[in-house]
Amino acid sequence: MRNLLITGGAGFIGSNFVHYMLETHADYRIVVFDKLTYAGRRENLERVAANPRFHFVQGDICDMQAVRAAVREHNIDTIVNFAAETHVDRSIMAPDAVVTTNVKGTWTLLEVARETGLERFHQISTDEVYGAIPAPRRSREGDPLEPRSPYSASKAGAEHLVYAYFITYGLPVTTTRGSNNIGPYHYPEKAVPLFTTNAIDNLPLPIYGDGLQVRDYQYVLDHCEAIDTVLHHGQLGEVYNVGTEVETPNIEMAHKILDLLGKPHSLIQHVTDRAGHDRRYALDCSKLRALGWQSRHSFDEALEKTVRWFVANEAWWRPIKSGEYLEYYRRQYEERGA
Ligand code: NAD
Ligand code: DAU
Repeated sequence: MRNLLITGGAGFIGSNFVHYMLETHADYRIVVFDKLTYAGRRENLERVAANPRFHFVQGDICDMQAVRAAVREHNIDTIVNFAAETHVDRSIMAPDAVVTTNVKGTWTLLEVARETGLERFHQISTDEVYGAIPAPRRSREGDPLEPRSPYSASKAGAEHLVYAYFITYGLPVTTTRGSNNIGPYHYPEKAVPLFTTNAIDNLPLPIYGDGLQVRDYQYVLDHCEAIDTVLHHGQLGEVYNVGTEVETPNIEMAHKILDLLGKPHSLIQHVTDRAGHDRRYALDCSKLRALGWQSRHSFDEALEKTVRWFVANEAWWRPIKSGEYLEYYRRQYEERGA
């Protein structure tokens, strides 16, 4: 493993992974392949733009010719696929994009990986593929996939294709299923960066329904280390859960953000719930821990670091919260009675 194609590397987790890999592996070359949708941003990669081991290609993972050209030109031996439409609420408003990018895009990458004989194809998946998990159950990797939103169904579809290419064609694949990430460069349509930036501006924090839905919020760097661990020590054809195993209700997360920023809890506004909202996700991550990985940040540490980053990096997020974003925000939250 030397020359990695990181699809979706200009997005939130992908850009953190690019920084992490360039810092951790002195001999790796990283090529980011990214369409630069509304969620993909060149500025997320500014810090590494001049690094001779880094290269950026703008392209769509559904475009087989473009993917093939990038793989051949840069002598790629490993693809790590972060590229996706990732927002559940957008997938509910307009499901076509998740089907195209997440399913067809993954298939396109698999085809190129097969034809070029790659060393490894790693798929970034999500805990949402298991569906809503009643307490006290925790999802293990062999559990059935019961996705319930267009987003999670598309991610499950992608995973099935990845596994099918392992069985049918012997493609060397691995998959990680991560819980909710938080940290730098998180696009402010997702709950934690949205609540943080709204709170900074004294705007309401729109909590869906009663806010008692449970998520496992992990620091993005812990997720990056987990992917690195699986790339180096994971078994081919296997799936690994990645999370902290700490459960946090959304309302508690919102209160903590307000406390960290010294803002009143009266900013919390309960709005109409997400359709089909999964009440709880909970992972069992013992299979990954057996490879030597462990989560390094508690929820409180992860949240504090994240909130501090947003306070210090207004120049990054403030321009995003304009134009198309405001139009999306109006459509999404007016309907909810915000
Ligand atoms: P993001 O929305 O911040 O970034 C997605 C990136 O993919 C963007 O840079 C975008 O431009 C790019 N992209 C979208 N469509 C593309 C296409 N057709 N071709 C090429 N590039 C395209 O997403 P994220 O939150 O960083 O998530 C990255 C991956 O991790 C996704 O696969 C997601 O399903 C998965 N995941 C995310 C989380 C989370 O909490 N954010 C948790 C578990 C798994
Ligand atoms: O679990 C992993 C998944 O986490 C990833 O696969 C997805 O790509 C990522 O977007 C994320 O999905 P969620 O739907 O859990 O994340 P989001 O930040 O949108 O919402 C987190 C929780 O907060 C969820 O229960 C919905 C709720 N929420 C969200 C928003 C945007 C609110 O209460 N109000 C909001 O305004």
